Amino acid sequence: MNDIPSTPGKFKSTLYTPRFRFPRVTLYTLLFLTFVFFIHFFLSPPSTTAPRRGLRDSGWDNQVKGSAKTRSRDNHVVLVTGACGFVGAHAAASLKKRGDGVVGIDNFNNYYDVRLKKMRKLHLLDKNGVFVIDADINDVPILKKVFGLVRFTHVLHLAAQAGVRYAMVNPDSYIKSNIDGFVNLLEIVKSLNPQPAVVWASSSSVYGLNTKVPFSEKDRTDQPASLYAATKKAGEEIAHTYNHIYGLSITGLRFFTVYGPWGRPDMAYFFFTKDILKRRTISIFEGPEHATVARDFTYIDDIVKGCLSAIDTAKKSTGSGGKKKGEAQFRIINLGNTSPVSVNKLVSILEKLLKVKAKKKVVLMPRNGDVPFTHANISLARKELGYRPTTDLETGLKKFVKWYLDYYGGKKKSSY
Ligand SMILES: NC(=O)c1ccc[n+]([C@@H]2O[C@H](COP(=O)([O-])OP(=O)(O)OC[C@H]3O[C@@H](n4cnc5c(N)ncnc54)[C@H](O)[C@@H]3O)[C@@H](O)[C@H]2O)c1
Ligand SMILES: *[C@@H]1O[C@H](CO)[C@@H](O)[C@H](O)[C@H]1NC(C)=O
Repeated sequence: MNDIPSTPGKFKSTLYTPRFRFPRVTLYTLLFLTFVFFIHFFLSPPSTTAPRRGLRDSGWDNQVKGSAKTRSRDNHVVLVTGACGFVGAHAAASLKKRGDGVVGIDNFNNYYDVRLKKMRKLHLLDKNGVFVIDADINDVPILKKVFGLVRFTHVLHLAAQAGVRYAMVNPDSYIKSNIDGFVNLLEIVKSLNPQPAVVWASSSSVYGLNTKVPFSEKDRTDQPASLYAATKKAGEEIAHTYNHIYGLSITGLRFFTVYGPWGRPDMAYFFFTKDILKRRTISIFEGPEHATVARDFTYIDDIVKGCLSAIDTAKKSTGSGGKKKGEAQFRIINLGNTSPVSVNKLVSILEKLLKVKAKKKVVLMPRNGDVPFTHANISLARKELGYRPTTDLETGLKKFVKWYLDYYGGKKKSSY
């Protein structure tokens, strides 16, 4: 209530004409309560996020329902978790644009700059009419309320604690979002009738220390190199369990280093750009014995297309109300670009686009979660999803840099 600049006392003479005298204290208490009531019900600003509101609020209900409206009967109705994250914001906007009903949920945690999440919401979601619930996926009352209001056909589950190095700083956050949160969501989804189909983000990091390339879905995934990877691998096993016991249709997508406009500031292409522009020295990792570090960089639009077609090709869940009625679809699919690029090449593309020579120092990659090399075999994605990535790193980075200069350049001029 800090931002309410008024005092209760000033209503005294207009609101209350005494025929008999109340004790002073009771009078002030009454006036104060009236004031609080007034402020609470009439002055709370309309907002497209609703922290802890919503359990008894018909305006909120209507916003959720409105956002879930489809353009035609054949469109899907999708709950997108992690909707103000990098992939979530793009995916939710894209679903809404093609006519699907979309409701987002995000807890706006401060793992990285919260303003960036809010700006994604403003520019990608509000603009397209996607309502976002400000809540944690561990919040059972809110989830139950939302699933009670809207009959979702699909859940696109992208909320997670991402990043491999931060797991050594805050291991708990990985367990809370990637394990507890996922189980909580599946527990609620499995007991619905009808059950929605689930599409969710796993990660290429499950391939861990594997050296056989390209990485195929059939390869072993039992040597994770980070707690992040371990929670994603655990998620795949948990997903299998819910598919097996409850008949949930579940598709896990193993994303390979996604990049692009509105991207994540904790990723190398992003902070290299920032540091190169600030003339700061950047650290280039190399593997043992000067081995090149390389990534299969995948452009955001390609990933979004993969997510949408995973939704479109997902079969219906077979269970209802917590009971399995038959075998349900279970898929795990790589979404990559199939052309790994070395960090050196990444930097030289950025230098060209930014027209600044980078100051570099080469350091041995610390053994804290990163793997030296990723390369996706996407033949399954091609077959199952008709997935065909079309953006190479140079083209994609050009779009990223344009966005970056716009966003952070414009920032100095305006005030946000
Ligand atoms: N970006 C990549 O390169 C990449 C690669 C592999 C896998 N993934 C996976 O893809 C998904 C999306 O990644 P991203 O790059 O968009 O990350 P992101 O961090 O930008 O987005 C995740 C969003 O989820 C929200 N969130 C986190 N925990 C939550 C919780 N408990 N309740 C509600 N909201 C919560 C965050 O606030 C954030 O906005 C994640 O599951 C990530 O692990 C991403
Ligand atoms: C890619 O994976 C498919 C199975 O999905 C497999 O048949 C093929 O041999 C793999 N290709 C390579 C180059 O490993």
